[in-house]
Amino acid sequence: MQERLKELQAEAIEKVEQASSLKELNDIRVAYLGKKGPITEVLRGMGKLSAEERPVIGAFANEVRAAISAKMEAKQAELEEAAVQAKLASETIDVTLPGRPVKLGNHHPLTKIIEEIEDLFIGMGYEVAEGPEVEQDYYNFEALNLPKGHPARDMQDSFYITEDILLRTHTSPVQARTMEKHEGKGSIKIICPGKVYRRDNDDATHSHQFMQIEGLVVGENIRMSDLKGTLEVFAKKIFGEDREIRLRPSFFPFTEPSVEMDISCKICGGHGCSVCKHTGWIEILGAGMVHPNVLEMAGYDSRVFNGFAFGMGPERIAMLKYGVDDIRHFYTNDVRFLKQFAVEE
Ligand code: PHE
Repeated sequence: MQERLKELQAEAIEKVEQASSLKELNDIRVAYLGKKGPITEVLRGMGKLSAEERPVIGAFANEVRAAISAKMEAKQAELEEAAVQAKLASETIDVTLPGRPVKLGNHHPLTKIIEEIEDLFIGMGYEVAEGPEVEQDYYNFEALNLPKGHPARDMQDSFYITEDILLRTHTSPVQARTMEKHEGKGSIKIICPGKVYRRDNDDATHSHQFMQIEGLVVGENIRMSDLKGTLEVFAKKIFGEDREIRLRPSFFPFTEPSVEMDISCKICGGHGCSVCKHTGWIEILGAGMVHPNVLEMAGYDSRVFNGFAFGMGPERIAMLKYGVDDIRHFYTNDVRFLKQFAVEE
């Protein structure tokens, strides 16, 4: 019996040595050490042995198993290491090869100008607020002192969805919504960028959908000079310190008094050219002191609180700042146009 076990050991060890894969090794394990293998088979015959022989053979059989197992483990480690080495060799990357260039996009010019304006106002303590583009007639008009049938509604040709719901024609409804949320208490300093819609025929200076940035400040003892100072800082930071501003009287139902702001034309230095229509000035935005009716409708006591508001068009600002002559360039997304606004990293 001992002889047979020795033979099996030698046989198994030889096979293990020759094994060339982990799968083969496992097959050998099953074949020799498994329940149906020859060693188990030999041990089954132990019943026939004498009481003295049995423990000797038993111990020997365990040694044989241990020897085969040890050999197998060593071989397994060897095969595994070989597999890792083969994988490393096959996956070697040549780091000296030149890389494939990745095409980088860039921000849309309107995104750039809006973020620049946002940063400027955030720096002055404003928060950014947003409102819905599909708006109720109430917030778009009524709460802004434009009751139904008011002639000034015609200033903003609107896309109505139902009688009471429309695509907002300006970002001013965010003023009304924000004031209402404050429930007549505390001061407000916000800017609201967003898309607006008007029933206009698209041409070089009109688009049925465009952007606006609204500003609103509500507090106690806010003066028109605060508005003027704020707008002056804005104009100089965005267009250059050498620009002058001027306020002209105007009309908006939600501000009183109302103004429009012009900046001096940089192209002709104020002497007059086609961009400024030979006036030396370029209109930039509308603004004014918040109308008491607007404050009252939103729940503010207009004897205690007042404020100012302004609204501007980022397209117009971008057109002037970057010398773009057609508003449609912002929306037709010709990559050759957009790529010009990539910044050098
Ligand atoms: N909402 C006005 C417009 O779209 C602009 C404006 C905003 C004027 C705030 C005054 C105050 O024309």
